[in-house]
Amino acid sequence: MLEVLEVVGSFVKERRCMSEKNERTKTKISCVLLEFEGNGKDEPTKISDTNLNIFILELFMGATETTNSTVEWAMTELLTNPTTMKKVRDEITQVVGHKRSFEESDIDNLPYLRAVIKETLRLHPPIPLLVPRSVIKDTELMGYIIPQGTQVFVNVWGLGRDPASWDAPLAFKPERFLDSTVDYRGQNFEFLPFGAGRRICPGLPLGNQMLHLVLGSLIQSFEWSLEDGVTPETLDKSDKMGMSLRKAFLLKAVPKPVCL
Ligand code: HEM
Repeated sequence: MLEVLEVVGSFVKERRCMSEKNERTKTKISCVLLEFEGNGKDEPTKISDTNLNIFILELFMGATETTNSTVEWAMTELLTNPTTMKKVRDEITQVVGHKRSFEESDIDNLPYLRAVIKETLRLHPPIPLLVPRSVIKDTELMGYIIPQGTQVFVNVWGLGRDPASWDAPLAFKPERFLDSTVDYRGQNFEFLPFGAGRRICPGLPLGNQMLHLVLGSLIQSFEWSLEDGVTPETLDKSDKMGMSLRKAFLLKAVPKPVCL
């Protein structure tokens, strides 16, 4: 952890130098934080280097672990569901082709790819219990009294697999999202991989773009297969809980560049 903080600290030092030389730019979040002066009352006058480093580290970890685990699960599901892989590949070939790179502006024209990402997040939300909440006053919920101070975990993993909300909940079926308005922006309580309410993931727009861009580019540029000796039936799909809920064993997939 100390090593990671050192790396992050070097970004902050770099920005501090830029700021001293008047080269800072308001588009960099670290520059905005360095300029923070506080209001002189309940806010500190400056953010300390330690707090700044930890804040940036949190953003880094919140962003990388979740995004890369979701892409790994999406590839796992596609490699074990060849018909789905073919459908998403055909859509990308038709809409984007192979003569140019996959771009953010393509996402709106790729409903099946969007459905694949949603289906992946339904079955494999990287933060399965969200961040813990605390009840601020005694509350009655469905006949139960939840006392003030109770720590609450929201089981979005369970919500995404609830047979009362989903048909064949354990099956990977992106088609279920094609004619549906269900989305992960915090309004559909059966599907909350980014959370909901005031603590909803602040990186949702960036995470959303990155997931489509990375998965779309991987499928556009390569044909994928499982390593020798592994079949869709034998691939180990168990998960393990760490900083996020990820595959217990790293996916090993073999890329073959798409011939133009
Ligand atoms: C697959 C992508 C991502 C998923 C599924 C995801 C999911 C989540 C979830 C479930 C939470 C807790 C929300 C709640 O309890 O209501 C959260 C919090 C957070 N996320 Fe993300 N996230 C993703 C990408 C990102 C990215 C790209 C960033 C930053 C650029 C980010 C930064 C954060 C931060 C800083 C928090 C903590 C917010 C707080 O403490 O209130 N996340 N995320």
